[in-house]
Amino acid sequence: MQIVSTIAAARETRARLNGTLGFVPTMGFLHEGHLSLVRRARKECDAVAVSIFVNPTQFSPDEDLNRYPKALEKDLALLREAGVSFVFTPDESEIYPPGFATSIDVGEVSKPLEGAIRPGHFSGVATVVTKLFNIIQPAKAFFGQKDAQQCAVIKRLVADLNIPVDIVICDIVRNEKGLALSSRNSYLTDSEQDRALLLHESLGKAQEHIAAGEWNASSIKRLIGDILSKDPEFSVDYISVADPYSLTELDSVDGEALISLAVRVGNTRLLDNVLVRRK
Ligand code: PAJ
Repeated sequence: MQIVSTIAAARETRARLNGTLGFVPTMGFLHEGHLSLVRRARKECDAVAVSIFVNPTQFSPDEDLNRYPKALEKDLALLREAGVSFVFTPDESEIYPPGFATSIDVGEVSKPLEGAIRPGHFSGVATVVTKLFNIIQPAKAFFGQKDAQQCAVIKRLVADLNIPVDIVICDIVRNEKGLALSSRNSYLTDSEQDRALLLHESLGKAQEHIAAGEWNASSIKRLIGDILSKDPEFSVDYISVADPYSLTELDSVDGEALISLAVRVGNTRLLDNVLVRRK
């Protein structure tokens, strides 16, 4: 496994690889969620590249950029074991040299939900992902459904800018109790981790009600809100029933819908979601 930190070396390494290249962009502190993307990429492609870069432009000034967890040596060992061909670990100055001025705004899909709470976040994501695609030049790139709005933004981005990369979305990986894996779970105490299971439970209940014929979005949101309000220390940022591609809110579930939520537990924001379909 090659480990490169300059764009020039990444381009050289990429040029030496034969066959289809799969790419998994990450911010490191890898867990089974990230590794599931790497395994899928291994299955579907001849070689796999992974980037580890904590992208400053997707964090707002009051966010957790400086305390974002890091474990580079462990990450590299996991990626070596997973059969990755090369890892790109650039410094901030390699990606954003002095004079850097361009940013990509993906429009409406990046505005609601996470975009409303984290202004500029998806512009930072879209810009860095475009740069990484241009540097790595993969045939396919793998993203997790865990960050559902990020998936919608990236799909819009590659379609609108004719970026020749197939976007593959992979299922959410959860721990044995149902909590969606996230690097930020490491901020939670054991008791907060247990309480955070309510997120998944509330989505499960919503799915049961939908299966039983409850299509009304307000009722579904109320049901989830009632469950989450059982924990007085949760602060709900949003509960959404939206079109999975445009992320516009729906009045009722008629075809496919993305039910997503974001909750603050202490200082930590947790996301979860489920895709549902009216049969
Ligand atoms: P990061 O949070 O490190 O996540 C990297 C990828 O892993 C994303 O596609 C994310 O959706 C996926 N992932 C995280 N937890 C997952 C889980 N439990 N199950 C399945 N997939 C999971 O997302 C980012 O980094 C950044 O925004 C990035 C795309 C790298 C741009 O900076």
